[in-house]
Amino acid sequence: MSIKDKTIILGITGGIAAYKAAELTRLLIKAGAKVHIIMTRGAAEFVTPLTFQTLSKNPVHTDLFSLCQEADVGHISLADRADLFVIAPATANIIGKIANGIANDLLTTSVMATKAPVLLAPAMNCNMYENPIVQENMEKLKKYGYCFIDSETGELACGYEGKGRMAEPSDILEEMETILSPKDLKGERILVTAGPTCEAIDPVRFIGNRSSGKMGYALAKMALRRGAGVTLISGPSSLKPPRGVKFISVESAEEMRKAVITNLRDATTVVMAAAVADYTPVKVAFSKIKKSKEPLSLELAKTLDILSEIGQKKSKRLLIGFAAETENLVANAKKKLKEKNLDLIVANNLKEPGAGFGVDTNIVTIMDKNGSVEELPKMSKEDVAWIVLDRMAGLCSRI
Ligand code: CTP
Repeated sequence: MSIKDKTIILGITGGIAAYKAAELTRLLIKAGAKVHIIMTRGAAEFVTPLTFQTLSKNPVHTDLFSLCQEADVGHISLADRADLFVIAPATANIIGKIANGIANDLLTTSVMATKAPVLLAPAMNCNMYENPIVQENMEKLKKYGYCFIDSETGELACGYEGKGRMAEPSDILEEMETILSPKDLKGERILVTAGPTCEAIDPVRFIGNRSSGKMGYALAKMALRRGAGVTLISGPSSLKPPRGVKFISVESAEEMRKAVITNLRDATTVVMAAAVADYTPVKVAFSKIKKSKEPLSLELAKTLDILSEIGQKKSKRLLIGFAAETENLVANAKKKLKEKNLDLIVANNLKEPGAGFGVDTNIVTIMDKNGSVEELPKMSKEDVAWIVLDRMAGLCSRI
C-alpha cells in the first residue's frame, strides 16, 4: 500500500531548491523506501553529495563516466531497479533535455532508460516557468505520461514573487505514494466528514469536543491515493487538507449538516468520521456573557443527526459511520449501524490508550450490515483508513 521497501531513484538538479531534496530524502528513508540518488554537476554545487550519501545511506551517483560507480551499479541497472523515479528539483534545463531526448549525463541517461513512472517537481524563476518553451516541454512530457507536481506560488530565492517554487517535500512524498497506490477506487466519489463541531455560546465561547480530525483526514488522503474523488467537510482542525480534495470548512453541526446535504447528490459513498455535537445552545448571546455571582445555566437543544437523515434517503449510496464508545462497544455500535441504516460502522473505545481522539493511532472494530465483526489491533489511522476503504470496496462489489 505504500512506499515502504520500494526502490526510489531521486534525481537532483542544480537549483537552490536542491537543499529541500535533503528533507525529501529524509522523509523517504523514514517511510521505509530504498533511496538511490543521482546528482547533476549543478546540483553538487548547491549541496554536497556527502549530505545525500549520509541521509540515503547509499553512495551518491554523480558522474556517467566514473569507472568505479559504473562498475558498481551502472546507470541502466539503476534505472531498471526503480519502482519510481523522481526528479526534485527539476530545472527548466532538465525538463527541456528530457522533452527533447537529450541524454548526455547520468541523470538524463537513467531517466531515459527507466520503465518506472517518473515524477518531476519543477523549480525555477517565475519568468522561466512562464516561458512558453518550458510550458510546451512540460505539456509534451505530460502527454508521454510523465507526472508533475506543480510548483507553488510565493517568494522565490531569486527575489521574485511568483510561480516556480518547488512543492514541499511532504507533498512530493504524498504524490509519490499516490503514484504507487492501486487506483481501485477510480470512479468513486467519497464524501468524508472530519473533526469536531463547535457550537457557539457567545462570540468567544463554544461547546466542542476533543476530535482532531486525524481519522477523517486519513480517510480522505487514502481515498485520494486510490483514485477516488474526495470531498472533505471538516469542522475546526489544525490539519492541512490533503492536496486534491474538494475542501469545505464548517463550524457547527448545522453547518456540517447543510454542507453534507448540498454535496450529497454526487457522492457514491459517505463516511461520517466527524464528531458531531449532539447538543447546541438554544440561544447564542450577541455579546460576550459577563460573569456574575449566580451560577450559569445554558439551555441546549438536540442537533439533527446527519447520518440518520441521510440513512433515510441513501438509495444506492454506501453509508459508513463511526461509533465513539466508552462501554459496550459492539452492542452500541451494532445498534447505531441498524438504527442509522448504515452499511459499515467503525467503532472505537475512547478509553483505550492509543485509540480515539487526538492520537495518530486507533484501535477499531469494523462491523458491517451482513453481521461481520472484525477487531483490528492498534495501528496508524492511515492503516485503519486503508482497511476501511478495502471493506467499503468489498461492499461496493457486492451491490
Ligand atoms: N452523527 C451525525 N450527526 C449527529 C451526531 C452523530 O451524523 N448529530 C454521526 C457521527 O458522525 C458518527 C455516528 O453518527 O458517524 C455516531 O456518532 P456517535 O457520537 O458515536 O453517536 P451518537 O449517534 O451521537 O450517539 P451517542 O453520542 O449517544 O453515543
